Amino acid sequence: MIAEKTTAYRLMDYLNASPSCYHAVETMKAELAECGYEVLHEHDAWQLRRGGKYVVVRNNSSLIAFRIPAEVKGGFMMAAAHSDSPTMKLREAAEVEAAGSLVVSVEPYGGAIYQSWLDRPLSVAGRVVTEENGKLRTRLVNVDRDLLVIPSVAIHMNRNVNEGVPLKANTDLRPLLGDLADKGKLRAMVAEAAGVEAESILTTELFLYPRICGTLVGAEEQYILAPRMDDLQSAFTCKEGFLQAEEGGSIPVLCVLNNEEVGSRTLQGADSDFLKHTLERVSEALGYTPAEHRAMLASSFVVSADNAHAVHPNHPEYADVNEKVHINGGIVVKHHANQKYATDAVSSAVFRRICRMADVPVQSFSNRADLPGGSTLGNVGIAQVSVATVDVGLPQLAMHSACELAGVADTEYMIRAMKVFFAQTLCRDAEDGITLI
Ligand code: CO
Repeated sequence: MIAEKTTAYRLMDYLNASPSCYHAVETMKAELAECGYEVLHEHDAWQLRRGGKYVVVRNNSSLIAFRIPAEVKGGFMMAAAHSDSPTMKLREAAEVEAAGSLVVSVEPYGGAIYQSWLDRPLSVAGRVVTEENGKLRTRLVNVDRDLLVIPSVAIHMNRNVNEGVPLKANTDLRPLLGDLADKGKLRAMVAEAAGVEAESILTTELFLYPRICGTLVGAEEQYILAPRMDDLQSAFTCKEGFLQAEEGGSIPVLCVLNNEEVGSRTLQGADSDFLKHTLERVSEALGYTPAEHRAMLASSFVVSADNAHAVHPNHPEYADVNEKVHINGGIVVKHHANQKYATDAVSSAVFRRICRMADVPVQSFSNRADLPGGSTLGNVGIAQVSVATVDVGLPQLAMHSACELAGVADTEYMIRAMKVFFAQTLCRDAEDGITLI
């Protein structure tokens, strides 16, 4: 349990270093570079070598890392998680007057539980584009202090508050910045955090984030309570497994992609050509023909990792009677008859085999048959790169709250499973039998 808690604290360090999707990717890129991964750029032609380790980032917010074994004997063993979380995006002209005070104008990004954002310290992180000596530069910013708050309306003004109150994004979610005399200060703070003059900032992409450091709760400290667990817990655990895996005959690929919370159809999302083109460029650089590349894809596999719903102790009725999953009960394989999840019998079997090799428990999940679930990276990504895919996740509660709850043991399970996964080579024979070597 002590080793598991150490891992949980390292996960929380990653969450704290990643207040926005840009930071989630930049933090991971920096760690990979430190581990000897060469940073590639999409605007260059790539010279890759066997034995090489590489990482490429698109538009500051999606990352693909891969390494090439000395002898390639199989396809690509891939894992995908997402870098974004539900939040509020600041408008370009963010400071607005409201009843004699200064508030910040925001627009929801993804499907946050609004209620959970009230009455807690918030701040601002994201990126700015500056003009410096005739060059446009993108700089990440984090105003690293307790700065804003969205105050709730007192119960005396609304006696029905505990019956559930609708919150409108355009009025109820504007955080308080200060007095009218504070006009201009937010922009100045953003410029200072970016290390530039305010006048040099041309545009901004800034998001609110809750100023909450993760913590362990529960009788045995078995739960992690922290922001952005969906899906940075998956991103972190896949990255750990990726780095720890021994070299096999396949090419391990780690993907952390932006914009899952808004449908993935962006320049850098799972529904873009980022992964497809990256895999093609790897094959090309290694001297494979297009036909050989397609054969490699047929021996490839994707683990789409996005957190899953544990059964709520106060509301078990939302879970299917026979499909209740529990925090710290193991990795969840997600099934959906109408294929909102990419899992099928074959991909599920491959993943269960991996988990058995890693001695990691697996739980099975379907949404209650009359409730639609969320979508994932899996079925979106498969349209771009059609490879056998399993949709999995770590069980959690309070999904899309400003502070989410997941398991200490599950974090370790996922790392162990992915460590085994990335070392495998998937071989198919003439009867379509599958062997993992
Ligand atoms: Co998610």
